[in-house]
Amino acid sequence: MPNMKITGVGMYVPERVVTNDDLAKLMDTSDEWIVQRTGIKERRYAPEGMSGADMAEKAFAGALKQAGIEKTSIEAVISATLSPDHTFPGMACFIQEKLGLNGCAVMDIRNQCTGFLYSMAVADAWIRTGLFKTILITGTELHSTALDFTTRGRDVTVIFGDGAGVMIAQATDEPDKGVIATDLHGDGKYAKALWVESEGSVFHPRLTHKMLDEKRIYPQMKGPLVFAHAIRRLPESMQAACAKAGVTVADVDFWAFHQANLRINEFACQGLGIPPEKTLHNIQKYGNTTAATLPIVLHEALEKKLIKPGMLVGFATFGAGFTWGTMLMRW
Ligand code: ACO
Repeated sequence: MPNMKITGVGMYVPERVVTNDDLAKLMDTSDEWIVQRTGIKERRYAPEGMSGADMAEKAFAGALKQAGIEKTSIEAVISATLSPDHTFPGMACFIQEKLGLNGCAVMDIRNQCTGFLYSMAVADAWIRTGLFKTILITGTELHSTALDFTTRGRDVTVIFGDGAGVMIAQATDEPDKGVIATDLHGDGKYAKALWVESEGSVFHPRLTHKMLDEKRIYPQMKGPLVFAHAIRRLPESMQAACAKAGVTVADVDFWAFHQANLRINEFACQGLGIPPEKTLHNIQKYGNTTAATLPIVLHEALEKKLIKPGMLVGFATFGAGFTWGTMLMRW
Protein backbone atom coordinates (compact mmCIF):
# COMPACT_ATOMS: atom_id res chain seq x y z
CA MET A 1 0.00 0.00 0.00
CA PRO A 2 1.42 3.45 -0.84
CA ASN A 3 2.19 5.87 1.97
CA MET A 4 2.28 9.67 2.11
CA LYS A 5 5.53 11.60 2.23
CA ILE A 6 6.04 15.35 2.09
CA THR A 7 8.16 16.41 -0.88
CA GLY A 8 7.72 20.19 -0.81
CA VAL A 9 7.05 22.77 1.87
CA GLY A 10 6.50 26.51 1.40
CA MET A 11 5.52 29.48 3.53
CA TYR A 12 4.59 33.10 3.24
CA VAL A 13 4.07 35.80 5.85
CA PRO A 14 3.14 39.38 4.96
CA GLU A 15 5.85 42.05 5.22
CA ARG A 16 4.03 44.24 7.74
CA VAL A 17 5.33 43.54 11.24
CA VAL A 18 2.97 44.47 14.10
CA THR A 19 4.72 44.57 17.46
CA ASN A 20 3.20 44.26 20.91
CA ASP A 21 3.93 47.95 21.41
CA ASP A 22 1.92 48.73 18.26
CA LEU A 23 -1.09 46.89 19.78
CA ALA A 24 -0.58 48.63 23.12
CA LYS A 25 -1.32 51.93 21.33
CA LEU A 26 -4.81 50.59 20.44
CA MET A 27 -5.80 48.67 23.59
CA ASP A 28 -4.90 48.26 27.25
CA THR A 29 -2.10 45.72 26.95
CA SER A 30 1.69 45.67 27.14
CA ASP A 31 4.69 43.95 25.60
CA GLU A 32 5.50 42.53 29.03
CA TRP A 33 2.02 40.94 29.50
CA ILE A 34 1.95 39.43 26.02
CA VAL A 35 5.50 38.04 26.11
CA GLN A 36 5.08 36.63 29.61
CA ARG A 37 1.72 34.93 28.93
CA THR A 38 2.19 33.83 25.31
CA GLY A 39 5.81 34.27 24.19
CA ILE A 40 4.64 36.41 21.24
CA LYS A 41 6.76 39.45 20.39
CA GLU A 42 5.29 40.36 17.00
CA ARG A 43 2.99 39.10 14.26
CA ARG A 44 2.38 39.90 10.57
CA TYR A 45 -0.72 41.52 9.05
CA ALA A 46 -1.59 41.31 5.35
CA PRO A 47 -2.04 44.58 3.44
CA GLU A 48 -5.52 45.62 2.37
CA GLY A 49 -6.56 43.72 -0.74
CA MET A 50 -4.35 40.68 -0.14
CA SER A 51 -6.43 37.51 0.16
CA GLY A 52 -5.75 34.13 1.71
CA ALA A 53 -5.50 32.72 -1.81
CA ASP A 54 -2.87 35.38 -2.64
CA MET A 55 -0.83 34.25 0.36
CA ALA A 56 -1.20 30.59 -0.66
CA GLU A 57 0.13 31.46 -4.12
CA LYS A 58 3.25 32.98 -2.59
CA ALA A 59 3.84 29.94 -0.37
CA PHE A 60 3.19 27.54 -3.25
CA ALA A 61 6.06 28.64 -5.49
CA GLY A 62 8.77 27.48 -3.07
CA ALA A 63 7.05 24.18 -2.31
CA LEU A 64 6.67 23.33 -6.00
CA LYS A 65 10.34 24.04 -6.62
CA GLN A 66 11.37 21.92 -3.64
CA ALA A 67 9.17 19.00 -4.76
CA GLY A 68 10.66 19.25 -8.26
CA ILE A 69 7.34 18.51 -9.95
CA GLU A 70 5.19 20.20 -12.58
CA LYS A 71 2.03 21.72 -11.12
CA THR A 72 0.00 19.74 -13.65
CA SER A 73 0.72 16.60 -11.59
CA ILE A 74 -1.29 17.93 -8.62
CA GLU A 75 -4.52 15.94 -8.47
CA ALA A 76 -6.21 17.52 -5.44
CA VAL A 77 -6.13 20.67 -3.31
CA ILE A 78 -7.08 20.40 0.36
CA SER A 79 -7.49 23.76 2.06
CA ALA A 80 -7.44 24.26 5.83
CA THR A 81 -8.55 27.63 7.18
CA LEU A 82 -10.89 29.27 9.67
CA SER A 83 -10.78 32.52 7.73
CA PRO A 84 -11.83 31.63 4.17
CA ASP A 85 -11.90 34.42 1.57
CA HIS A 86 -15.69 33.98 1.30
CA THR A 87 -18.43 31.94 3.00
CA PHE A 88 -18.85 29.73 -0.06
CA PRO A 89 -17.67 28.14 -2.26
CA GLY A 90 -14.80 26.60 -0.34
CA MET A 91 -11.40 28.21 -0.05
CA ALA A 92 -9.82 25.37 -2.05
CA CYS A 93 -11.76 26.59 -5.12
CA PHE A 94 -10.26 30.07 -4.85
CA ILE A 95 -6.77 28.69 -4.25
CA GLN A 96 -7.10 26.25 -7.14
CA GLU A 97 -8.11 29.07 -9.50
CA LYS A 98 -5.32 31.34 -8.25
CA LEU A 99 -2.69 28.62 -8.77
CA GLY A 100 -4.02 27.54 -12.17
CA LEU A 101 -4.82 24.00 -11.05
CA ASN A 102 -8.34 24.01 -12.48
CA GLY A 103 -9.96 20.63 -12.92
CA CYS A 104 -8.37 18.77 -10.02
CA ALA A 105 -10.29 17.75 -6.87
CA VAL A 106 -10.88 20.41 -4.21
CA MET A 107 -11.86 20.14 -0.55
CA ASP A 108 -12.06 22.41 2.50
CA ILE A 109 -11.35 21.35 6.06
CA ARG A 110 -12.67 23.60 8.84
CA ASN A 111 -10.79 22.44 11.92
CA GLN A 112 -9.09 25.62 13.06
CA CYS A 113 -5.65 25.10 14.63
CA THR A 114 -5.88 21.36 13.98
CA GLY A 115 -7.08 21.89 10.40
CA PHE A 116 -3.73 21.31 8.75
CA LEU A 117 -3.14 18.08 10.68
CA TYR A 118 -6.59 16.76 9.74
CA SER A 119 -5.85 17.73 6.12
CA MET A 120 -2.61 15.75 6.24
CA ALA A 121 -4.55 12.76 7.60
CA VAL A 122 -7.10 13.00 4.77
CA ALA A 123 -4.34 13.33 2.17
CA ASP A 124 -2.62 10.26 3.66
CA ALA A 125 -5.88 8.28 3.50
CA TRP A 126 -6.51 9.32 -0.12
CA ILE A 127 -2.97 8.31 -1.04
CA ARG A 128 -3.24 4.95 0.75
CA THR A 129 -6.44 4.08 -1.13
CA GLY A 130 -4.75 4.92 -4.42
CA LEU A 131 -7.24 7.70 -5.22
CA PHE A 132 -4.50 10.31 -5.71
CA LYS A 133 -0.70 10.34 -5.88
CA THR A 134 0.04 14.05 -5.53
CA ILE A 135 -1.92 16.43 -3.28
CA LEU A 136 -1.43 20.08 -2.39
CA ILE A 137 -2.35 20.90 1.22
CA THR A 138 -2.72 24.58 2.05
CA GLY A 139 -3.10 26.40 5.35
CA THR A 140 -4.02 30.08 5.00
CA GLU A 141 -5.09 32.43 7.71
CA LEU A 142 -6.08 36.08 7.47
CA HIS A 143 -7.03 36.99 11.00
CA SER A 144 -6.29 40.70 10.92
CA THR A 145 -9.52 41.62 9.11
CA ALA A 146 -11.68 40.19 11.93
CA LEU A 147 -10.09 41.10 15.25
CA ASP A 148 -11.42 43.43 17.94
CA PHE A 149 -8.72 46.05 18.36
CA THR A 150 -10.29 47.48 21.51
CA THR A 151 -9.43 46.41 25.07
CA ARG A 152 -12.46 44.11 25.09
CA GLY A 153 -10.86 41.87 22.45
CA ARG A 154 -7.29 42.02 23.74
CA ASP A 155 -7.06 38.40 24.99
CA VAL A 156 -7.65 37.02 21.47
CA THR A 157 -6.32 39.85 19.31
CA VAL A 158 -2.77 39.79 20.67
CA ILE A 159 -2.49 36.08 19.82
CA PHE A 160 -3.36 35.87 16.13
CA GLY A 161 -1.31 36.67 13.02
CA ASP A 162 -1.68 36.28 9.26
CA GLY A 163 0.25 33.80 7.12
CA ALA A 164 0.17 30.84 4.80
CA GLY A 165 1.97 27.54 4.47
CA VAL A 166 1.66 24.67 2.04
CA MET A 167 2.87 21.10 1.73
CA ILE A 168 3.02 18.89 -1.33
CA ALA A 169 2.13 15.34 -0.31
CA GLN A 170 3.08 12.47 -2.60
CA ALA A 171 2.69 8.72 -2.66
CA THR A 172 5.75 6.66 -1.84
CA ASP A 173 6.41 2.93 -1.90
CA GLU A 174 9.62 3.24 0.14
CA PRO A 175 8.98 1.02 3.17
CA ASP A 176 10.81 3.25 5.66
CA LYS A 177 9.34 6.62 4.63
CA GLY A 178 6.15 8.50 5.33
CA VAL A 179 3.30 8.45 7.85
CA ILE A 180 3.48 5.77 10.51
CA ALA A 181 0.74 6.79 12.97
CA THR A 182 -2.08 9.30 13.29
CA ASP A 183 -4.16 10.19 16.33
CA LEU A 184 -7.11 12.59 15.92
CA HIS A 185 -9.72 13.89 18.37
CA GLY A 186 -12.41 16.50 18.95
CA ASP A 187 -14.83 17.48 21.70
CA GLY A 188 -17.72 19.68 20.62
CA LYS A 189 -18.73 20.22 24.24
CA TYR A 190 -16.22 23.05 24.11
CA ALA A 191 -17.26 24.47 20.74
CA LYS A 192 -18.17 27.80 22.32
CA ALA A 193 -15.01 28.06 24.41
CA LEU A 194 -13.23 29.52 21.40
CA TRP A 195 -15.51 30.64 18.60
CA VAL A 196 -16.95 33.29 16.35
CA GLU A 197 -20.69 33.47 16.96
CA SER A 198 -21.88 35.38 13.94
CA GLU A 199 -22.64 35.68 11.17
CA GLY A 200 -24.37 32.32 11.31
CA SER A 201 -27.10 30.51 9.42
CA VAL A 202 -28.92 29.94 12.74
CA PHE A 203 -29.78 33.63 12.82
CA HIS A 204 -32.58 35.28 10.83
CA PRO A 205 -31.07 37.33 9.31
CA ARG A 206 -27.55 35.97 9.60
CA LEU A 207 -26.00 39.33 10.43
CA THR A 208 -27.60 42.36 12.04
CA HIS A 209 -26.45 45.82 13.04
CA LYS A 210 -27.02 44.74 16.65
CA MET A 211 -24.53 41.86 16.27
CA LEU A 212 -22.00 44.28 14.84
CA ASP A 213 -22.59 46.77 17.65
CA GLU A 214 -22.24 44.00 20.24
CA LYS A 215 -19.03 42.84 18.56
CA ARG A 216 -20.34 39.30 18.21
CA ILE A 217 -18.51 39.04 14.88
CA TYR A 218 -15.14 38.75 16.61
CA PRO A 219 -13.50 35.62 18.08
CA GLN A 220 -14.23 35.00 21.76
CA MET A 221 -12.15 32.71 23.93
CA LYS A 222 -12.21 31.26 27.42
CA GLY A 223 -8.42 31.43 27.52
CA PRO A 224 -7.71 29.62 30.79
CA LEU A 225 -10.08 26.77 29.81
CA VAL A 226 -8.37 26.39 26.43
CA PHE A 227 -5.00 26.44 28.14
CA ALA A 228 -5.99 23.81 30.72
CA HIS A 229 -7.23 21.41 28.02
CA ALA A 230 -4.31 22.04 25.67
CA ILE A 231 -1.66 21.12 28.23
CA ARG A 232 -3.48 17.84 28.96
CA ARG A 233 -4.65 16.80 25.50
CA LEU A 234 -1.43 17.53 23.59
CA PRO A 235 0.79 15.17 25.62
CA GLU A 236 -1.98 12.54 25.73
CA SER A 237 -2.25 12.54 21.95
CA MET A 238 1.52 12.57 21.40
CA GLN A 239 1.82 9.50 23.63
CA ALA A 240 -1.13 7.79 21.93
CA ALA A 241 0.42 8.27 18.48
CA CYS A 242 3.76 6.94 19.74
CA ALA A 243 2.02 3.90 21.25
CA LYS A 244 0.29 3.21 17.90
CA ALA A 245 3.65 3.42 16.13
CA GLY A 246 5.39 1.25 18.72
CA VAL A 247 7.87 3.98 19.63
CA THR A 248 8.40 6.27 22.62
CA VAL A 249 8.23 10.06 22.72
CA ALA A 250 12.02 10.03 23.16
CA ASP A 251 12.42 8.08 19.90
CA VAL A 252 10.96 11.02 17.96
CA ASP A 253 13.79 13.14 16.56
CA PHE A 254 11.84 16.35 15.97
CA TRP A 255 8.46 17.67 17.17
CA ALA A 256 6.63 20.30 15.09
CA PHE A 257 4.04 21.87 17.41
CA HIS A 258 1.13 24.10 16.66
CA GLN A 259 2.06 27.57 17.91
CA ALA A 260 -0.86 28.81 20.05
CA ASN A 261 1.09 29.78 23.13
CA LEU A 262 4.76 29.22 23.89
CA ARG A 263 3.85 28.22 27.45
CA ILE A 264 1.58 25.40 26.23
CA ASN A 265 4.37 23.92 24.11
CA GLU A 266 7.00 24.35 26.82
CA PHE A 267 4.67 22.64 29.29
CA ALA A 268 4.21 19.68 26.92
CA CYS A 269 7.95 19.45 26.26
CA GLN A 270 8.89 19.61 29.94
CA GLY A 271 6.29 17.01 30.90
CA LEU A 272 7.44 14.59 28.23
CA GLY A 273 11.16 15.29 28.56
CA ILE A 274 11.60 16.72 25.05
CA PRO A 275 14.82 18.77 24.90
CA PRO A 276 14.76 22.21 23.18
CA GLU A 277 16.95 21.02 20.29
CA LYS A 278 14.23 18.58 19.24
CA THR A 279 11.71 21.28 18.45
CA LEU A 280 11.33 24.82 17.08
CA HIS A 281 9.07 27.60 18.32
CA ASN A 282 8.43 30.57 16.04
CA ILE A 283 5.31 32.00 17.72
CA GLN A 284 7.58 34.83 18.90
CA LYS A 285 7.72 36.15 15.30
CA TYR A 286 4.34 35.24 13.85
CA GLY A 287 1.83 34.74 16.68
CA ASN A 288 -0.74 32.02 16.15
CA THR A 289 -1.35 31.60 12.41
CA THR A 290 -3.83 28.78 13.09
CA ALA A 291 -4.08 26.39 10.11
CA ALA A 292 -0.96 27.90 8.52
CA THR A 293 1.23 27.18 11.53
CA LEU A 294 2.34 23.57 10.97
CA PRO A 295 3.72 24.10 7.44
CA ILE A 296 5.36 27.37 8.54
CA VAL A 297 7.12 25.63 11.44
CA LEU A 298 8.10 22.71 9.22
CA HIS A 299 9.45 25.04 6.55
CA GLU A 300 11.64 26.89 9.05
CA ALA A 301 12.81 23.65 10.67
CA LEU A 302 13.88 22.32 7.25
CA GLU A 303 15.67 25.59 6.45
CA LYS A 304 17.56 25.33 9.74
CA LYS A 305 18.39 21.69 8.88
CA LEU A 306 16.76 20.47 12.10
CA ILE A 307 15.12 17.67 10.11
CA LYS A 308 17.15 15.23 8.04
CA PRO A 309 16.24 12.16 5.96
CA GLY A 310 15.49 9.14 8.12
CA MET A 311 14.43 11.16 11.15
CA LEU A 312 11.19 10.44 12.97
CA VAL A 313 9.13 13.64 12.92
CA GLY A 314 6.03 14.35 15.03
CA PHE A 315 3.31 16.94 14.39
CA ALA A 316 1.12 17.87 17.37
CA THR A 317 -1.75 20.35 17.50
CA PHE A 318 -4.57 21.58 19.74
CA GLY A 319 -7.19 24.19 18.93
CA ALA A 320 -10.75 25.42 18.79
CA GLY A 321 -13.52 22.83 18.74
CA PHE A 322 -11.81 21.57 20.80
CA THR A 323 -9.80 19.56 18.27
CA TRP A 324 -6.40 17.97 18.73
CA GLY A 325 -4.13 15.32 17.30
CA THR A 326 -0.70 14.00 16.42
CA MET A 327 0.93 12.51 13.31
CA LEU A 328 4.25 10.68 13.18
CA MET A 329 6.18 10.51 9.96
CA ARG A 330 9.52 8.99 8.95
CA TRP A 331 11.28 11.75 6.94
N1 ACO B 1 -3.17 42.33 27.86
C1 ACO B 1 -3.30 42.62 29.18
N2 ACO B 1 -4.15 41.99 30.00
C2 ACO B 1 -4.91 41.03 29.46
C3 ACO B 1 -4.84 40.67 28.09
C4 ACO B 1 -3.93 41.37 27.28
N3 ACO B 1 -3.76 41.11 25.97
N4 ACO B 1 -5.73 39.68 27.85
C5 ACO B 1 -6.33 39.41 29.03
N5 ACO B 1 -5.85 40.22 29.99
C6 ACO B 1 -6.21 40.30 31.40
C7 ACO B 1 -7.56 39.67 31.71
O1 ACO B 1 -8.60 40.59 31.47
C8 ACO B 1 -7.42 39.31 33.16
O2 ACO B 1 -7.62 40.47 33.93
P1 ACO B 1 -8.38 40.39 35.36
O3 ACO B 1 -7.52 39.48 36.19
O4 ACO B 1 -8.38 41.80 35.80
O5 ACO B 1 -9.73 39.82 35.06
C9 ACO B 1 -5.94 38.93 33.30
O6 ACO B 1 -5.28 39.51 32.15
C10 ACO B 1 -5.70 37.45 33.32
O7 ACO B 1 -6.48 36.85 32.26
P2 ACO B 1 -6.44 35.31 31.97
O8 ACO B 1 -7.30 35.03 30.78
O9 ACO B 1 -6.71 34.53 33.22
O10 ACO B 1 -4.91 35.15 31.59
P3 ACO B 1 -4.10 33.85 31.25
O11 ACO B 1 -2.93 33.79 32.13
O12 ACO B 1 -4.97 32.64 31.17
O13 ACO B 1 -3.57 34.16 29.78
C11 ACO B 1 -4.10 33.58 27.52
C12 ACO B 1 -4.47 34.43 28.75
C13 ACO B 1 -2.73 34.02 27.06
C14 ACO B 1 -5.12 33.88 26.44
C15 ACO B 1 -4.08 32.10 27.91
O14 ACO B 1 -5.24 31.76 28.60
C16 ACO B 1 -3.94 31.20 26.71
O15 ACO B 1 -2.96 31.19 26.01
N6 ACO B 1 -4.92 30.36 26.44
C17 ACO B 1 -4.86 29.43 25.35
C18 ACO B 1 -4.94 30.08 24.00
C19 ACO B 1 -4.95 29.01 22.94
O16 ACO B 1 -4.23 28.05 23.01
N7 ACO B 1 -5.82 29.11 21.97
C20 ACO B 1 -6.03 27.95 21.12
C21 ACO B 1 -5.58 28.13 19.79
S1 ACO B 1 -6.46 29.21 18.86
C22 ACO B 1 -7.49 28.30 17.75
O17 ACO B 1 -7.62 27.13 17.73
C23 ACO B 1 -8.29 29.14 16.85
